[in-house]
Amino acid sequence: MGLLEGHRAIVTGGASGIGRATARRMAAEGAAVAVLDLDGEGAALVAGELGGPGGVPIFRAVDVTDPEALAGAVEGAVAELGGLSLLVNNAGGAASMAGLADWDPADWDHLLRLNLSSVFHGIRAAIGHLRAAGGGAIVNTASISGTRPSAGETPYAAAKAGVAALTASAALEYGPDIRVNAVAPGVIRTNLTRVLLENLPDQVDRYERATPAGRVGTPEDVADVIVFLASDQARFVTGQTIVVDGGMTLHGAGVDGLFDRFIR
Ligand SMILES: NC(=O)c1ccc[n+]([C@@H]2O[C@H](COP(=O)([O-])OP(=O)(O)OC[C@H]3O[C@@H](n4cnc5c(N)ncnc54)[C@H](O)[C@@H]3O)[C@@H](O)[C@H]2O)c1
Repeated sequence: MGLLEGHRAIVTGGASGIGRATARRMAAEGAAVAVLDLDGEGAALVAGELGGPGGVPIFRAVDVTDPEALAGAVEGAVAELGGLSLLVNNAGGAASMAGLADWDPADWDHLLRLNLSSVFHGIRAAIGHLRAAGGGAIVNTASISGTRPSAGETPYAAAKAGVAALTASAALEYGPDIRVNAVAPGVIRTNLTRVLLENLPDQVDRYERATPAGRVGTPEDVADVIVFLASDQARFVTGQTIVVDGGMTLHGAGVDGLFDRFIR
């Protein structure tokens, strides 16, 4: 029996990368999964591969920065799923970098809407259904950028830090029936990081050297943690943001590197 047998799930950003791997893993563990994504064709492809209840794929083309459209997509997906017990607010991303005061305020607003407000609106749309199901779990995709930001990514980092705070607040309000957690991925090989990883091999070398796990992450590395957090295996875990970065962010403490230099 799968870890998510009998569950009904929505995954946003499910057409690609971490969301697609999560939709696949959740379905493999027995959940019926609806795939929501801006990329309707990609969502249809993934949903078609999974097969919904009775073999009918469930997907919606939706922009998570549009609260009304997101609420409508959640309603439609829940109707087709026949209820809702799991929500994965995963859609997000950032395409550029700039100095803090050089960010165009419109881009700042967009990144906050895409990475933070979308989680609020996703929960708002889904919470009544999760309660009606007698409980369930929410997993949000944050980022190591939220706790260990890099220069140049302020709106993304601030939004992802907000996701961790929102996750903890929601856990306080929705327990005991609904658990709310987040994952904070490190560097994961997806469309989001493709340009970086393909064009800057020295950066990839740096990631591999700096990561105790010795490699860049895969979408499945994160999806497996999301499945764990969604499942009853994590029944005593709520309000947490779990770092999934192969240990990369362990570096940077006061005597970091000295052991390798003088002793090992
Ligand atoms: N890849 C990484 O290294 C990494 C690291 C930390 C956090 N993350 C986070 O993981 C999540 C998934 O990213 P990924 O790496 O799988 O990237 P990805 O680009 O492969 O997938 C993101 C998906 O979200 C969808 N999407 C983008 N904007 C949307 C919108 N407005 N409405 C609906 N769907 C939208 C895209 O169409 C795509 O299918 C994001 O929240 C991202 O910030 C990724």
